[in-house]
Amino acid sequence: MMSSLLSMKVSRVAELEAFLFPLVCNSKGKRLVYTKWTARSFRISVNSKTCQHVGRNQRCQFLLHCCLSSEAVVNLSGSLIPSSSNIPPSILEKTREKLHLRPNHPLHILKKMIEKSIEDMHPREFSFYDDLPQLVSTTDCFDDLLVEWNHPSRRYTDTYYWDESHVLRTHMTAHDTTLLRAGKKAFVLTGDVYRRDSIDKSHYPVFHQVDAVRIFDRNTSQNEHKLIADLKSTLESLAKNIFQREVQIRWVDGEFPFTYPSFEMEVFWNGNWLELLGCGLLKRGVLDAGQVDKNSKGWAFGLGLERLAMVLFEIPDIRLFWSKDERFLQQFRDGKITKFKPYSKYPSCYKDITFWLSEKFHENAFYELVRTVAGDTVEEVALLDEFHRNNKTSHCYRIVYRSMDRSLTNDEVDEIQDKIREEVARRLEVILR
Ligand code: DAH
Repeated sequence: MMSSLLSMKVSRVAELEAFLFPLVCNSKGKRLVYTKWTARSFRISVNSKTCQHVGRNQRCQFLLHCCLSSEAVVNLSGSLIPSSSNIPPSILEKTREKLHLRPNHPLHILKKMIEKSIEDMHPREFSFYDDLPQLVSTTDCFDDLLVEWNHPSRRYTDTYYWDESHVLRTHMTAHDTTLLRAGKKAFVLTGDVYRRDSIDKSHYPVFHQVDAVRIFDRNTSQNEHKLIADLKSTLESLAKNIFQREVQIRWVDGEFPFTYPSFEMEVFWNGNWLELLGCGLLKRGVLDAGQVDKNSKGWAFGLGLERLAMVLFEIPDIRLFWSKDERFLQQFRDGKITKFKPYSKYPSCYKDITFWLSEKFHENAFYELVRTVAGDTVEEVALLDEFHRNNKTSHCYRIVYRSMDRSLTNDEVDEIQDKIREEVARRLEVILR
């Protein structure tokens, strides 16, 4: 996918600069300043300290680096992205959004409520982190958490790899062992996580999670039943605070590579059991990776913010969280959970695409391509039909288009569909029918 950035033909320096500029502001608002441009390279500085010459053909690596590192371009040559990286520019741009940090955004409202609830229950015990770097090592994301070598989440088709040993975090749990090694005993982490996935109203390649860990030292009771009771009562109070009333809760056995025993908490809400979070006692292997004292134990939990926010604020489509439309943004205020009032539902239309699969084809790569070309105008992609002939497989997908904030014209959708056909044929080497 990197080649789409490369293929963005930026012929003149001014164009390149215009393209780069909005991308090179890090989360602390530090701006990279270009000090000198020449035809073949440009020089940049960060806070007028670090200078580098960057060849123009290295610009995409440079961009990736800028977007993900707050100490941008310190050692560019040491961080070149192999062309095998599967992070498309559209995903990269999302790393700068950090919706959970935006005042009055539903995800921020929920994050604050969760943090406050935990702080009120256990005053001054927890540290709160919400701006940890999205790029983590595969050791942090998988190995330290005892994720099996063949677990689906490790696959290139399911996860965004920067290089073979770094990924865009697929879950916030990826930071646990690093913080444990730093001696932290109780923490709450909020952030954006990344997964290559299908497209529908509740799936988006970027979403947000809150994870927490609480370690009990050797002097505190080590009885597992007591730890589980503490975990469950903490989470039951949390649910009560979030839903702002007594809610019916049930505990179901869960399965996570890094906890045993594991549980899932479900909440009865509007007539349905809603799966709210996963949790459990951290396995000894994880505590060892975090260099936690042999006599200490601890619990952890993880919760997805979008799914919860969709239910509480009655937000019908996950793309709305990314909307820049004031009619969406103006509806919410920090500290309050209010029902979303749809401003208008614009008409949808669909187009089908049918092709013979190739070796290169993978559903997630296809979904991502659709999303890269069509952006947030695509509401859903569904496999309609599959058939086999002479050792070949044909897929037919229906792509449903609908914008969240305007009516799409026929011509516009046709153009997007044509572009998707072209790109799918070119990149995934399928034979269009
Ligand atoms: N990391 C898990 C996921 O993304 C969620 C999770 C489950 C986090 C259990 C935890 C936990 O900390 O204890 O699906």
